[in-house]
Amino acid sequence: MSARIAAVVGRQIWDSRGRPTVEAEVVLENGAVGRAIAPAGASRGAHEAVDLRDGGNAFGGYGVNRAVAGIAAEIAPALLGMDGRDQAGVDAVLASLDGTPNKSRLGGNAIVAVSMAVLHAAAAYARAPLWQYLANGKSVQLPLPEIQIFGGGAHAGRRTDVQDFMVMCPNAGSFRRALEITDDVYRAAGRLMEEKGPLTGVADEGGWWPNFASNDDALDMLTRAIDASGHRAGEDVFISLDIAANELGDTNGYHLALGDHRLSSDAWADHIIKWAGQYPILSIEDPAGQDDWDMMSKVTAAIGDHVQIIGDDVLVTNAQRVKDAAARSVCNAALIKVNQVGTITEAKAALDAAAGHQWGRIVSARSGESEDVTIAHLATGWNAGQLKVGSFTRSERMAKWNEMLRIEEAMGNDAQFAGFAAFAPAIAAGRA
Ligand code: PGA
Ligand code: ZN
Repeated sequence: MSARIAAVVGRQIWDSRGRPTVEAEVVLENGAVGRAIAPAGASRGAHEAVDLRDGGNAFGGYGVNRAVAGIAAEIAPALLGMDGRDQAGVDAVLASLDGTPNKSRLGGNAIVAVSMAVLHAAAAYARAPLWQYLANGKSVQLPLPEIQIFGGGAHAGRRTDVQDFMVMCPNAGSFRRALEITDDVYRAAGRLMEEKGPLTGVADEGGWWPNFASNDDALDMLTRAIDASGHRAGEDVFISLDIAANELGDTNGYHLALGDHRLSSDAWADHIIKWAGQYPILSIEDPAGQDDWDMMSKVTAAIGDHVQIIGDDVLVTNAQRVKDAAARSVCNAALIKVNQVGTITEAKAALDAAAGHQWGRIVSARSGESEDVTIAHLATGWNAGQLKVGSFTRSERMAKWNEMLRIEEAMGNDAQFAGFAAFAPAIAAGRA
């Protein structure tokens, strides 16, 4: 039986924030089925693909009935009969059918769900797990996880300016061990927060609610939590930050709500460079606003030989922006979120562009997630080297970590943990 697309169905379901989102199901003529759920960001870049939402009063305006209707009325008829294994062909049809530069007509949410569902259907047709289908016989490494301990910024009522306080365990030796060490740190942080009081639950991605008077207090507490966990800060466990500075300012300066500091772009760069010297920091995402590339280049020039500098909102998983940023040495790693650009093919192009510059590559979840575990397979099958999912609680996060454990087990003796090899060459050489 053929791999031709026989059906494409969309439906409105609910994400981890209790907001509507799009699920797509694709059936091939031989009966192979693929299913995927669109994630959703809260701290988005201006250059991202745009989700189609219903607006109005129902569900806070987040309804996706129009996006689902577009799948039935336009996307399904256009894809029926196409070969489900022709991901590039399918994604090109999706992009041209939409016709806008930011997928705003049919919706990035509808398009990404269908694009990922087609990929799942093709893997099902090949009777292979998705990661293996993508690896296509090449040897791939298990990604290094980047896991949140405190969640701040737009994910926690802006209680801290910095959005994610995370840890990385590149010397763990295996994915399983990296999770075990992270669990020790997560619990130690919880105990310390309880002592400090009041401990007030978790943020959008499951990290402890960041009840701090300053960003420095959060960094101190995270370093203390690593020490208290019985693991060594700067050897077993490193700190990784997502500043998400797009939410704080741009070339005209940055505003830190904690302490009400206003800093010029230059002073903010110096502040971040100072943090990297004070704390066991291995990775910093989006130190600058999306268009403040000079500031980000300054940070990269100062510390990029031993600290990973990741572009998220500045790159928005766009291959052309990756190339432009590389030409100006803006960063040395790219965050890859399929829904930022809208299709699997375009996200892979951004990943390939980053690989071409020997940058680190981090496949990432969004703050609005679901039980969908596609990104665990993309990070592994694309040999990205790193995976960022959020924290170590809440099942929309744990589903991805648990899927990685299944993948690691399936690899058996061939399993290889990326560790420091996942970073740009200078960092890998200096730290390993
Ligand atoms: P978002 O945040 O999904 O809310 O955009 C995640 C990130 O900034 O990496
Ligand atoms: Zn980010």
